[in-house]
Amino acid sequence: MQELVGKHIVLGLSGGVACYKTAHLCRLLTKAGATVQVVMTEAAEQFITPVTMQALSGRTVYTSQWDAREGNNMPHINLSREADAIVIAPCSADFVGKLAQGRADELLSLLCIARPSSGCRCCWPRP
Ligand SMILES: Cc1cc2nc3c(=O)[nH]c(=O)nc-3n(C[C@H](O)[C@H](O)[C@H](O)COP(=O)(O)O)c2cc1C
Repeated sequence: MQELVGKHIVLGLSGGVACYKTAHLCRLLTKAGATVQVVMTEAAEQFITPVTMQALSGRTVYTSQWDAREGNNMPHINLSREADAIVIAPCSADFVGKLAQGRADELLSLLCIARPSSGCRCCWPRP
């Protein structure tokens, strides 16, 4: 857990019932000393609210690639480059398909493909 101290994690939620578990994961990450920036797909918002994730992470949640709060208007670039790691949990079957196909029609998939490949390591959950 010590290795998370001072790390900046983008925690991406896609649409699945397991979004409720990500609330706990968010708390565990912050407790371990990481800062957590939550990004949610539209479908994820059907399962848990950005308000809950904001309260747990202490940061405003990003849900749109058109979010204008970034000075350069490119949240996908900034979020991706600032992160030490991007964790997608839960990762829907739809989202896996998107990543595999390089589709990027919303913020979370867009920031994933904006990530330099040198910083990527794919870790699937072990059974
Ligand atoms: C009640 C409900 C539960 C769902 N649970 C899952 C799930 O556990 N895993 C999954 O891959 N998709 C699940 N889905 C389907 C996704 O929410 C759906 O494919 C959605 O388009 C995913 O969008 P996203 O990948 O942009 O977040 C569920 C849908 C519903 C209505």
